[in-house]
Amino acid sequence: MPIEIESPEEMGYDTIRYNLSESSVRDLPFKELDIDLSEVVLAYTVHRGDAHLRSLILEESTYFQVDDVLVTTGAALALFIVSTTLLDKNDHIIVIRPNYATNIETPRAIGCAMTIVDLNFDQQFDLDLEAISSAIQPNTKLISLTNPHNPTGKVFPLDAIKSIIAMAEKKGCRVLVDETYRDLNFQTPLLPYFASLSDRVISVGSLSKSFGAPGIRTGWLICRDKALMEQFLAAKEQMILGNAVLDETIAMHLLAQKSTFLPPIHAHIRENFAFLKNWLNEQTLLEWVQPEAGVVCFPRLKQGLQLDFPNFKKTLYEEHKTMVGYGHWFEQPERYFRIGFGYPSTSDLKAGLACLDSSLAQWVR
Ligand SMILES: Cc1ncc(COP(=O)(O)O)c(C=O)c1O
Repeated sequence: MPIEIESPEEMGYDTIRYNLSESSVRDLPFKELDIDLSEVVLAYTVHRGDAHLRSLILEESTYFQVDDVLVTTGAALALFIVSTTLLDKNDHIIVIRPNYATNIETPRAIGCAMTIVDLNFDQQFDLDLEAISSAIQPNTKLISLTNPHNPTGKVFPLDAIKSIIAMAEKKGCRVLVDETYRDLNFQTPLLPYFASLSDRVISVGSLSKSFGAPGIRTGWLICRDKALMEQFLAAKEQMILGNAVLDETIAMHLLAQKSTFLPPIHAHIRENFAFLKNWLNEQTLLEWVQPEAGVVCFPRLKQGLQLDFPNFKKTLYEEHKTMVGYGHWFEQPERYFRIGFGYPSTSDLKAGLACLDSSLAQWVR
């Protein structure tokens, strides 16, 4: 997948000065955590995930019981478990695109039929409910979307997601809502997980993006369908048995401090977002749909302009040591790219956007 081959992890973090390609906040140094791991016993963990960790994930929500949560190694494993449990080659899935690559590539690898419903820049990346409804077939098992959305930063209206859930309930299929960016609601109120609305919904979450802790590989899936949760648990047991005990211990530490931990992160995102907004609104070459949550946006080159993409990419990376997420990571044209504005410091964001300006000016005609 291009997003993996061209990722900063593969290219080498030391080759990038201004990293505007990330969809997370600053990576958290372990030394900033006031945590004592000396009492941890390096034993197997509870397969569903530590019960206290699962209750922290649920934040005392009255919608769920602790067994409605399965802890996974990142949202990535949760998504893989959902696809491999629910789909086989005789099934059909509806995927809202752009989407995180796994949400497209895993069903593809399974070989099931797929209808892609694209979000359209000119429709403000709104969900096309009619297209989703008419795509449902007798063998449709899953409707898959991400909210808050990657790469656009869009937050779909609650009513639109409720309509999709109603369609799924009527037709007997399920809805996967990848809510990996849920806690990055720096300017929108936080809603309960969508899995609270119906036992046909599976919500996926993670500590990677909002806490800057992708290195502890801790995510989860939430679903109120008990029989399905048993299948998901069996799938996890086949793949990894349980999570790593050190990861779970750190995850509990982070979640227990969520209310003090996240506000400074949101303040940083708001500061960077304010700068980005001015920068984009003054752009002569780019246009955007303003993101509502998360730390990414997905601008495009204005109509009528041509981009020499290979040279643009080369100049941006090799001369300016700057990286953005490219449109083809999301199966979109080269005139689109993703800017991550939560990861860099404010001064690095400013410098990186200046490098982007200069590379675009050089290679746009
Ligand atoms: C929408 C979405 N889902 C899942 C993931 C995977 O996250 P994790 O690090 O929790 O596995 C990502 C990572 O970029 C993502 O953007």
